[in-house]
Amino acid sequence: MTLFAPCAMNVAPLLAYELTQMGIPNARPARGGASFEGGLEAAYRACLWSRLASRILLPVATFFAPDAEALYAGIQTVDWAIHVRPKGTIVVDFSCSGSAIDHSHFGALKVKDAVVDQFRDACGIRPSVDTKQPDLRINVYLYRDQATVSIDLSGDALHRRGYRVKGGKAPLKETLAAAILAHARWPDMAAKGGQLVDLMCGSGTLLIEAVLMAADIAPGMGRHDDDFGFSHWLGHDAPLWAGLCDEAEERREVGLAAFGKGRVHGYDRDERSQEAVKQNLWNAGLEEYVEFHQRDLAETQPQSGAAGLVFINPPYGERMGHDERLNHLYASLGGQLKDHFSGWRVAMITGNPDLARHMRLGADKKHTLYNGAIECKLLHYGIN
Ligand SMILES: C[S@@+](CC[C@H](N)C(=O)[O-])C[C@H]1O[C@@H](n2cnc3c(N)ncnc32)[C@H](O)[C@@H]1O
Repeated sequence: MTLFAPCAMNVAPLLAYELTQMGIPNARPARGGASFEGGLEAAYRACLWSRLASRILLPVATFFAPDAEALYAGIQTVDWAIHVRPKGTIVVDFSCSGSAIDHSHFGALKVKDAVVDQFRDACGIRPSVDTKQPDLRINVYLYRDQATVSIDLSGDALHRRGYRVKGGKAPLKETLAAAILAHARWPDMAAKGGQLVDLMCGSGTLLIEAVLMAADIAPGMGRHDDDFGFSHWLGHDAPLWAGLCDEAEERREVGLAAFGKGRVHGYDRDERSQEAVKQNLWNAGLEEYVEFHQRDLAETQPQSGAAGLVFINPPYGERMGHDERLNHLYASLGGQLKDHFSGWRVAMITGNPDLARHMRLGADKKHTLYNGAIECKLLHYGIN
């Protein structure tokens, strides 16, 4: 079967590569994500191991739906009884673009009616709606009047790894942090013994994602089974899932031992950052693998050991900071890097690339990524 993994804008090629690296065949970038071939094992593997996908969808029908009646009829062609019990619970996620039906709430309601009417007509009992923890999450995407109906196997969006309790001031989404690390080639650096330093780590999202990645830890391992969309789905294969979780446990143990301690350091001047990092690390079971230093940028220097990757997610005015002060901050950032991080690679993400000029460093690579709705530049530098 062909599955689909949606992801953030511009991340689809990275995601297709990630799926291929998992041994999943025919992964290729598509509009809004990556499609791939495989059975339930490939789908479960992607749910457990993808660092970049926001969801994993199993399509069950596609049809032309230029109006509400066609949408209703198309939904009724699916045998919903093989997916959810009559007394079970459902929720419908509906999105549309370039279609006659252009109201997602209306579309979702129509889909829900078609599903519950099928049960009511067949047995007199109908599933109810549960928006928080449904037995079945139905995803409908209407693009130019063409409907794709899928079972959402991921349930809660996959960036919810289960470790984040404290949000921090302006936290990066976990999937964005993973995309940054992949673009910066952190896995290669880590394999060669490099260190990672985040000079303004906030709640520590990137630090945690960096250890998960370098130590071969499945990002979905920290979630409860109930967080996944398949756990109450009637097609769920519990032994298959349990086997994949056991394999992930083994890989985590081996990966952490090989990665070792003292290679990942987070700095931030804010004492609330320390609390957030500590709590998030503890939740992720990684408190021994990241060292936090409460320090202003001006006093930051690398620890001894091999050079590696410096990451920076400085304030850029959208959510925190003020422009005059930001000019100085970026200028001192550039000075700090030149003075203390010779031989290191640097990756900086900012929503205001004009500010980066104050660093007086020339980027050798650039990527456009999105932090929520904010277009950001990921700038890469080599410090001589
Ligand atoms: C955009 S936030 C980083 C968010 C982080 N990436 C996360 O996922 O939570 C910027 C951080 O820079 C820190 N910061 C600002 N100016 C600083 C300075 N001069 N020295 C050290 N940290 C600073 C702030 O305390 C804040 O936590």
